[in-house]
Amino acid sequence: MCPSRSLALLAGLLAAAQAQAEYPLYTGERLTLGRKVWIENCETCHAYGVAGAPVATRPELWTERIAKGKQVLYEHALNGFYGPMGTMMPARGGNDALDDEEVTAAVDYMMRLAAPTSTEAIPTQ
Ligand code: HEC
Repeated sequence: MCPSRSLALLAGLLAAAQAQAEYPLYTGERLTLGRKVWIENCETCHAYGVAGAPVATRPELWTERIAKGKQVLYEHALNGFYGPMGTMMPARGGNDALDDEEVTAAVDYMMRLAAPTSTEAIPTQ
């Protein structure tokens, strides 16, 4: 591999590692699992608004969604969901290998990022 290419690759890896370090660690197994799943599967869209995804760190984009209740958000994350603007959340974030616990834990983690003080965002499992 030519040196400039490996340097670019290294820079990319460092940027990714740095971005991950910014996501808070919450206590509890559920949110620890959720953080891992979220970074590996959901961050690509939900950190940057890719494909119209609501950005996890912008609470104003989540108020109405959280008001639907956590069970609805779980259901939409597991089975996929088309919003009123025609944007689409793919079932399981597009990774069929994730089980229900992993997907719903990632929803819990994203809700904590979006609304740290909302009681709806406190994991129940
Ligand atoms: C390919 C991009 C993409 C990936 C990857 C992705 N999402 Fe989404 N997600 C979206 C989009 C776009 C929406 C907004 C859909 C709408 O409301 O129009 C969304 C919405 C959501 C919502 C809100 C649903 C609602 O009813 O308001 C939840 C919860 C969610 N995603 C969870 C997840 C989880 C958990 C993962 C990882 C396992 C994930 N997403 C991965 C694109 C993505």
